[in-house]
Amino acid sequence: MRIHGKSTRTIWLAADGAGVEIIDQTRLPHDFVVLRLDTLEDAERAIGEMWVRGAPLIGATAAYGVALALRAGQTDERLDEACRRLLATRPTAVNLRWALDDMRSVLRTLAPEKRLAAAYERAARISDEDVAMNAALGEHGAGILRDLWEKRRAAGADRLNVLTHCNAGWLATVDWGTALAPVYKAHEAGIPLHVWVDETRPRNQGASLTACELNWHGVAHTVIVDNAGGHLMQHGLVDVCIVGTDRTTATGDVCNKIGTYLKALAARDNDVPFYVGLPGPTIDWTIEDGIRQIPIEERDPAEVTHISGRDPAGRRVSIQLTPDGSGAVNYGFDVTPARLVTGLITERGVCPASRRGLLSLYPEKRPHV
Ligand code: MRU
Repeated sequence: MRIHGKSTRTIWLAADGAGVEIIDQTRLPHDFVVLRLDTLEDAERAIGEMWVRGAPLIGATAAYGVALALRAGQTDERLDEACRRLLATRPTAVNLRWALDDMRSVLRTLAPEKRLAAAYERAARISDEDVAMNAALGEHGAGILRDLWEKRRAAGADRLNVLTHCNAGWLATVDWGTALAPVYKAHEAGIPLHVWVDETRPRNQGASLTACELNWHGVAHTVIVDNAGGHLMQHGLVDVCIVGTDRTTATGDVCNKIGTYLKALAARDNDVPFYVGLPGPTIDWTIEDGIRQIPIEERDPAEVTHISGRDPAGRRVSIQLTPDGSGAVNYGFDVTPARLVTGLITERGVCPASRRGLLSLYPEKRPHV
């Protein structure tokens, strides 16, 4: 992503090669603030308080968090404690566990004095691989958008309308995004796209983050309330839905930001294709039943009862929406059953949302007999 003309990732090593820098996503879209992480505690806070968020970026931050933790000691105990504490920061995105398992398995085999340098190297590799996977899935997804656009153009349309939920864009990954990578690739290829951006209550990652990065990238878009999607689909104003995912089961059930399931239901009722963009590390090969087996994060009810934004004087303010005494509950994610998903867009190609479909792209995951 180019910001103010400069190629920028969402996480990078600081100039001294020790700290790690991130964009504080709680300050977007109004302020672009870079924060420096130096310790395990900093990395825990960055993920837990959602300075960084989005499944792939959570994984990359956790990987760097292990490197930061090892600055204070490289014993087995320190490594295990760092992985345990980072794993506890957010429960749903499986990329977190994947990145920590990867770091731990590589570092455990090394002598303690070799671990610090190796941890930085491995975290950098996880980040680079995320960029490459998202760029590749973007190409595969852009092919779908190109085909849809050819049909819409033949029918007299002047643009292709894409609907997305939450933020599964550049800001949710190290670069490119998952759901939005196909959008960026298709936009670069000259396809006239327009994106309906679900605001995505309660934290409004759509209204604040997706809108922000589509603006930076010059992609036409319109923010809508979360309940508008069904109406737009009934009136032929959505050609395709593309969302990201925090964890997809081996059978193709898709867990993503709360409200995704309702979009998939509306899409099915209106014959709108519903695609999910995901890099391989978002697949949890250990589970089959998304509704029963994926842990759903419950966050502070204050995110529902209050809303924050910028007042006319430019100050950041939080406003209470609900009456004193009314309770609220804040589930972060829901599960869209595989049967409602048209296709999974991965770095290896597009497949049906099913065990067979996923194994056709990842044959190395077939159980050994
Ligand atoms: O709670 P968040 O902001 O971390 O949730 C993010 C999402 O649900 C994204 O859609 C998902 O992580 C896919 S990211 C490429």
